[in-house]
Amino acid sequence: MITIAVPAEGDKSEHRVALSPETAKKFTALGCKVQVQAGAGAGANFSDAEFKQAGASVVKGAPATLKGADIVLTVRRPAAASLKGVTKGAVLACILDPFSDKAGLSALAKAGLTVFSMEFMPRITRAQSMDVLSSQANLAGYKAVIDASAHFGRALPMMMTAAGTVPAAKVFIMGVGVAGLQAIATARRLGGVVTATDVRPSTKEQVESLAAKFVAVEDEEFKKAETSAGYAKEMSAGYKKKQAKLISEHVKSQDIIITTALIPGRPAPELISRAMVESMKPGSVIVDLAAERGGNCAVTKPDAVIEHKGVSVMGNTNLAGELAGNASSLYARNLHAFIDLMIDKEKKCALAIDWEDDVIKGTLVARGGKLVHPMLTAKKGGKK
Ligand code: NAI
Repeated sequence: MITIAVPAEGDKSEHRVALSPETAKKFTALGCKVQVQAGAGAGANFSDAEFKQAGASVVKGAPATLKGADIVLTVRRPAAASLKGVTKGAVLACILDPFSDKAGLSALAKAGLTVFSMEFMPRITRAQSMDVLSSQANLAGYKAVIDASAHFGRALPMMMTAAGTVPAAKVFIMGVGVAGLQAIATARRLGGVVTATDVRPSTKEQVESLAAKFVAVEDEEFKKAETSAGYAKEMSAGYKKKQAKLISEHVKSQDIIITTALIPGRPAPELISRAMVESMKPGSVIVDLAAERGGNCAVTKPDAVIEHKGVSVMGNTNLAGELAGNASSLYARNLHAFIDLMIDKEKKCALAIDWEDDVIKGTLVARGGKLVHPMLTAKKGGKK
């Protein structure tokens, strides 16, 4: 029988949990034993009683939870020291943040764990249900607009009242991936006048299909600025200059800006300079969803709301985690779909990992005591 262990998150500010009552039930139905640490679901409002009802054992303390585990599921990367006692070769699947704290990652590898990074999930149709970046970014995009509008001292929709007209707020979304698309949709629903920019040409149509306006320098470089995996490429200095000029003019008139621009494995590109922030009207709000990776805005401070010359800049690094109930439910489903691949249904819940499967190969980071993912073993960090 396979034992799946879900300890409470080591970082107390993380309210998400890697198991939901729904997925606990699914795992037990597969014949797995599920051990969840008492209180692990509290931040997401999943009670111990709900986990018990779903067939999981609720266990006191991390060491007892991890005892005998074949698979450990967490939200964030756990410290190797916290997994002492977990058998060599046991699977660890989490949002690994694989490019940070290399020493911590090597320690997990050295402990003999088979480590999977959910962020490396290939963007293929078959893996969509396992795509944690999408499930979390979608919620973050929504929450960014909600937070911005709550912080903004004005209304978003246009209102015609007897006392006069309230103008609609201008909302600019920079980076139109999963988070950006949800931010556009949310800002539109709230009645904002929405514009958006991205370096990937395919986003123009997506922006327009959400009834927002696309703003970008559409030259030859722009037409080729997308990797086969659907991600953004680092743009040339020349393009960045032209784009910055166009954007800096546009930014001046915006009330709310949500930035979401990321390039896998690289620091976030700076899209809003200090001078651009200073060109905005007092009372304007910027939400920088790239804060954890250096930020898209020059003045962003991770996990802080700062005021720069009257403009508020919000740098929450875990917006999805603030919707912990939804975020945990979706993440737990991502994990269930992924772990399901590793379970041999005929042999009644035995681990059967197909090391040649693209989904397994794409996400496997450490095995047999070593780091094995090409993006981590390549000399200069990986390129896509
Ligand atoms: P991301 O989080 O890596 O980046 C966010 C956005 O920032 C991207 O749209 C990127 O093009 C943009 N960006 C990067 N540099 C920029 C710059 N200098 N200026 C403006 N924008 C910039 O992207 P995310 O959200 O992970 O999605 C990437 C793509 O993958 C999207 O097309 C998405 O629809 C696609 N996708 C495909 C899936 C599948 O087929 N299974 C699942 C999820 C996403």
